[in-house]
Amino acid sequence: MDSKILTELRAAVGDGRLSTAAEDLATYAYDGTWAEARPDVVVHPETTAQVAAVLRVADAYRVPVVPRGSGTGLAGGSLPVTGSICLNLARMNRIVDISVADTLAVAQPGVITYDLQKAVEKLGLFYPPDPASVYQCTLGGNVATNAGGPRCLKYGVTGDYVLGLEVVLAGGHVLRLGGRTIKDVAGYDLKRLFIGSEGTLGVVTEITVRLIPKPAAQLTALAAFPKLADACQAVGAILQAGVTPLVTELMDQGTTRAVEGFKHLGLPTDVEALLLVAVDGDAELVKAEIATAAEILKRSGAREVRQAGSAAESEALWEARRNVSPAIARLARNKLGEDVTVPRSKIPEMVARLGDIARTNDLRIVVYGHIGDGNLHPTILCDRRDAAIMKRVEKAAGEVLAAAVALGGTLTGEHGIGIFKRAYMEMGVDRNALAWMAGIKALFDPNGICNPGKKLP
Ligand code: LAC
Ligand code: ZN
Repeated sequence: MDSKILTELRAAVGDGRLSTAAEDLATYAYDGTWAEARPDVVVHPETTAQVAAVLRVADAYRVPVVPRGSGTGLAGGSLPVTGSICLNLARMNRIVDISVADTLAVAQPGVITYDLQKAVEKLGLFYPPDPASVYQCTLGGNVATNAGGPRCLKYGVTGDYVLGLEVVLAGGHVLRLGGRTIKDVAGYDLKRLFIGSEGTLGVVTEITVRLIPKPAAQLTALAAFPKLADACQAVGAILQAGVTPLVTELMDQGTTRAVEGFKHLGLPTDVEALLLVAVDGDAELVKAEIATAAEILKRSGAREVRQAGSAAESEALWEARRNVSPAIARLARNKLGEDVTVPRSKIPEMVARLGDIARTNDLRIVVYGHIGDGNLHPTILCDRRDAAIMKRVEKAAGEVLAAAVALGGTLTGEHGIGIFKRAYMEMGVDRNALAWMAGIKALFDPNGICNPGKKLP
């Protein structure tokens, strides 16, 4: 990068907030995928004014800016692009305000999601969105991807909790969108445009989220299903009985065996599927709800239903779910994890199609996911060094996405498009809508410096 630009960037953020050393650039060259790309420079702003100054310089010199939180993204959204500035927001990690009276919190984008959850829970409040990477991921990244997680069936996704945003646009313009109220119809709801925009419209520098009272109790059960389709059907039956579970997490046999091989939790590995079901709310109510759920699980074909009798037992069941990703990572050198989402009733058919795709492409695909949301994580095991396998992986990935779309679903439910799914956008999104999206991008970012080459085809 031109030394004149570096000098201006250094002035924009101040001393000690800019890195160009090769080892620093290497550190910021990754996200949660296998892709890799080094930025030309990393800046570590601590204030909105510094972010604005960076975006002014970037726009003036037409240098791409790629915002980054913890780099846990699974679609390449925060992966640097050639010749770019990596805008590391990790130092903007202050919880600015928690208001019990207004049940909301204001936080900077670099706050770790789990840290916000713990801080509000101390005050009897609850922030429901909980991506599986909750201990590492940041709120800014959650807003950028409109992140989901296991608790969405009952509580919705990140965007459902955002009341207000402060964003910085290319050129350094600062906008304050929304605010501190649940109802707000003054003007267009521009904050919604930024939620899930993956840094392509601007940079989020402050987030106001709605909170709810912390549910008094939570109960968990784990059901073992000889037939995977029965587990899917059971979730529908539980909902129809008037119980909205906190989570309904499915693990297929390959996933369960991977977790068991990793953590030795005593999980049943001889069944097609495990289903983790949890309910939360009033202490008496959850007892009744988990009993109803357990009864339906058994009636639907579960061979065994283990109900956690205590918080510690419930924690042990959750341990299985939390270890899915690292456990699967041990099965092969690389993995490609998708997050296709279909209408809930189509899950059994989607799982069947995944089996066909694995067979016809001679690949191993393990499946887990948030089935109440219709959100599956088919994970293709592979080895990047093997060109022949990777060709089949690419073909299979396309078939997975096509199957989801054919069943009325979407390419991505929670990880975003990033770079990995751009090529499929025309398959999964209305063509006319894509043209309007391109127009919106051009309006906010006329010089195309905000995370170029991401999100849109
Ligand atoms: C999960 C991530 C992969 O649910 O979305 O574990
Ligand atoms: Zn997920």
